[in-house]
Amino acid sequence: MNLFTQIFHLVGSGAVAYITARNMRDLQTRPNLLAGFQLAESGSVPFLEALSQRAAAEGDDWLAEKLSRHAQDERKHGQIFAHALKQLNKQVIDFKQVPQTTAEGKPDERRRSPFFDAYFEGYSRENMSPEKIDWLVFLGSTHILELDACKDFARMANALPDDPQSVNLKKSILSIAQDEKGHAAYLLEAMERRLPHNKVIALVDEWRTRKVNALLAMVGNLIQRNGQQPSLVQDGVPAEMSEGVAEEKELAAV
Ligand SMILES: [Fe+2]
Ligand SMILES: [Fe+2]
Repeated sequence: MNLFTQIFHLVGSGAVAYITARNMRDLQTRPNLLAGFQLAESGSVPFLEALSQRAAAEGDDWLAEKLSRHAQDERKHGQIFAHALKQLNKQVIDFKQVPQTTAEGKPDERRRSPFFDAYFEGYSRENMSPEKIDWLVFLGSTHILELDACKDFARMANALPDDPQSVNLKKSILSIAQDEKGHAAYLLEAMERRLPHNKVIALVDEWRTRKVNALLAMVGNLIQRNGQQPSLVQDGVPAEMSEGVAEEKELAAV
């Protein structure tokens, strides 16, 4: 990582922390943020489960077990965010109702992520499938995301106000931050099991640099759109969750 990357990492992560903390504190912007997290956390579950099966098939039981646990954690995180949205009488939009393209024929903004396009620049969608992805690409890229997610969630939780509803959400998000720390740690350990230490350092450094560049791409995209984020939420509680008493209890225990 060169000096510029290092400085931008500090400035960029500070800016992201500031923006997300502000969006979490404000009840106007909180639903969209929660919805984004719900989609990201729940969306990673099938990928992690498929990777766990692949690791088992390749004879790496240690990694298979860690990935399976990881998938369970992310499923729980998605449920926590869905529950928080439900309490605000909101839910994630139904993507089946969102057209693939806008009226101008451009792909709908909600279906692509300038951040991930830049983060995985040079890798085709095909090469990123759980059956094909290079293990080191998965381990390095996910380690950095988990490490930063841990810090970002902890900051966001602490930015929440002290009303009773927010206090519960704060506790849940702090528990998520702890889980993310565990994910970052086992992914680093998985790299250490496969590579000599100096190669691990280089791999982590490469993905840190990619993350900084991806943040820059994301900020650039946001400026182009005048800071407007496409909405990910709609009003109402999803039917399958409206009687979620068991789930309420489950979440209260988190
Ligand atoms: Fe998570
Ligand atoms: Fe995680």
